[in-house]
Amino acid sequence: MNVYDGQRIAAMLEQHGFTQTEDVTDADLIILNTCAVRAKATDKVYSALGRIRRAKKPNALLGIVGCVARESGADAFKRIPELNFVLGPQSYHKLPEILKNPDTKLLNIDLGGLEKFDELPQTTKSPVVAYIPIQEGCNHCCTYCIVPYTRGRELSRPFDDVIHDTINAAKTGAIEICFLGQNVNGYKYTDEKGKLFKLSDLICETAKLPEIQRIRFTSSYPTEMSDDLIEMFGIEPKLLPFLNMPIQSGSPRILKKMNRPDDIDTYKTIIKKLKTVRPDIQISSDFIVGFPDETDEDFAETLRIARDIKYINSYSFKYSPRPHTAAAIMPNQISEQIKSVRLQQLDNQLNENQREFNISCIGKEMICLCEGDDKTGRNLVFRTPYMQQCIVEKPDYKITALQKIKITDANKASLRGEIIK
Ligand code: 5AD
Ligand code: SF4
Repeated sequence: MNVYDGQRIAAMLEQHGFTQTEDVTDADLIILNTCAVRAKATDKVYSALGRIRRAKKPNALLGIVGCVARESGADAFKRIPELNFVLGPQSYHKLPEILKNPDTKLLNIDLGGLEKFDELPQTTKSPVVAYIPIQEGCNHCCTYCIVPYTRGRELSRPFDDVIHDTINAAKTGAIEICFLGQNVNGYKYTDEKGKLFKLSDLICETAKLPEIQRIRFTSSYPTEMSDDLIEMFGIEPKLLPFLNMPIQSGSPRILKKMNRPDDIDTYKTIIKKLKTVRPDIQISSDFIVGFPDETDEDFAETLRIARDIKYINSYSFKYSPRPHTAAAIMPNQISEQIKSVRLQQLDNQLNENQREFNISCIGKEMICLCEGDDKTGRNLVFRTPYMQQCIVEKPDYKITALQKIKITDANKASLRGEIIK
């Protein structure tokens, strides 16, 4: 979501005559696009601001946008007096106001709904993977999560607007579409005539575009995997066989305290249904370890589910108490030391799953998407349909972005392959 927001902000500033620079000391305008999901992310923003305020040109404008702006509000100006603007995740389209009045302090952390999508210019050149937000905010209220506070209640964008963005992305270079939302599979839009549109409808319509060869979406809430969406994995070959569907914990007791779906059998049934329609599908998850009151037994259940489901490409985090959340004031908070030990154990399991899956790919042929050169410039970096990174020696002839690749080697982190002509 932040990558997308950053692209829209860049497109808007280009219209105002700005160009991008990598050098902070050279910049006339510096924007930190921020994430507040864990305390560490917020801390990083403030330490970066501390560095930047000393390094920047005296007249350069400095500001933060996104969830830390909303979390901190006016307090951000007290902490960093050099800040010129603080704009929340739904008000960054107000940025030009500071260009008109650079001597003022601009604060806007309102939850303005979907207005920003209409006011920002379209990008004129899309990367091969285009991120398209389809909904924003979340109604689920997991007790650890700051997102319902920072991004507000769930709002789905009009179906026609999303398709308009998708067509624009296809016409300007996109080959893969990734639909985005904090609760992406909760997407529901009813038009003026009362017709209801769901994520499965967006996928069907997008798949009709000849330029678009791959479709995916993130992040999904387990109990919103409706049957029409599950069936899409059997019907639509452009939909990649890979789904991020976070479970967070394997313990029903902790899931209840998290205010998450706590019936592990229901979760497993969804995966079974997905595998029935798409036997090669793989699942990834997010995990939180050290949630308040999590015992060794609860954690053992998380390890067990990670092993049973054989998740690939998963993310794991130490629980981080956040302002405006219920879990931050729950009793029996877990020590940092125990959180670190549990995270290490879970990571070992997740890494082992990933290594096993990567190795099982050796010898297989997959259609992969080229994302560009690697750091050395001698190789190309591809993404497999499972979002694995695959390194391929650069050929001496020109290739198109989608290539059939034979996987020749693998380790935990990535694959190696060769182009099949
Ligand atoms: N502490 C740790 N991890 C968190 N996440 C969300 N809130 C917190 C928190 N307070 C994780 C969840 C979510 C991912 C985006 O970030 O695993 O799925
Ligand atoms: Fe946060 Fe995701 Fe839960 Fe929504 S579903 S409250 S975004 S963790």
